[in-house]
Formats: sequence, C-alpha cells, structure tokens
Amino acid sequence: MKAALTLLTLELLLLSITLQGKVLDRCILARTLQNLGLADFQGITLANWVCLAKWESNFDTNSTRFNPEDDSTNYGIFQINSRFWCSDHKTPGSKNLCRISCKALLKNNIGSAVVCAKRIVKDPQGINSWAGWRKNCKNKNLRKYVQGCRL
Ligand SMILES: *[C@@H]1O[C@H](CO)[C@@H](O)[C@H](O)[C@H]1NC(C)=O
Repeated sequence: MKAALTLLTLELLLLSITLQGKVLDRCILARTLQNLGLADFQGITLANWVCLAKWESNFDTNSTRFNPEDDSTNYGIFQINSRFWCSDHKTPGSKNLCRISCKALLKNNIGSAVVCAKRIVKDPQGINSWAGWRKNCKNKNLRKYVQGCRL
C-alpha cells in the first residue's frame, strides 16, 4: 500500500513536470532565466525579466490572452504575440518571426519562450514591446523581484 502510494506520488510529480501549464515560483523562474542566459541579455537585468513575467502572465506558463483588436493571441510566461512571433494557424497575417508554434510557448519548460524573447528584444522596440513591462516595470525599483533568490 505504501509503495503504491509512493508510486502514485511519483507519477503525479512526473505528470506535472511533463505536462503543459504551470505557475512558476518567482525565484525558480529567476534562476531558470539566469541559466538560460537572460541575465543582462541586451543590457536587460534579470529583475526586469522577472517583473515582465509577473505582470504579463503572473508566472503562469499556460497563460493565453486573446486580443480582439487584431484577432491575435498572447502565449505563455512572456505573453508572446501570435501576430509577429509565433504561429497558431488562426492569426491573420502572422509573421511567425520566432519560427515556432505558439503552443510550444506554453510548456513548463520555458526554453523556447526564452529563445523567442531574445529574438524579440533584438528588434528596435526591444523590451518596450511588452505593455505590461512599460506600465509596471520601466523606471521602477525592481529589487523585490529577485530579492531573497539564490542567484
Ligand atoms: C492550460 O490551458 C488550457 C486552455 O485554457 C486548459 O484547457 C488546460 O487545462 C490548461 N492546462 C493546465 C495544465 O493547466
């Protein structure tokens, strides 16, 4: 009985790791972004990226938001938009500049989202592409977003 329960726990754990959609812990996110090379990428500090993720998706990798103005959708932890960056086969005139399926941006593993974010900030608009960042993170004290994290 105990062994069976342990096995069930293990299976649930594995399921939660492999399946799509997960709210990430702030410091785990910060560390993951650091490992994936976002700290000071294009001069943007780690705290800026954590703040961006907080306000765009509330750290939820499975987050999607439809934009009725142009029939596009934002995907994942960074709310990456389907009009320019990824393909969801339903956005009129999508450019898919990251050459990726929007669904891949919803995985627990945020590797693809980070690669695409790096592409986005290389554009002239840079991190200003994100309204959530402009409104809540730009020119703000961002210490609290990485405070207490072992980085
Ligand atoms: C992710 O979002 C989709 C669409 O909102 C939902 O159907 C699915 O259950 C979610 N997955 C998880 C693991 O929360």
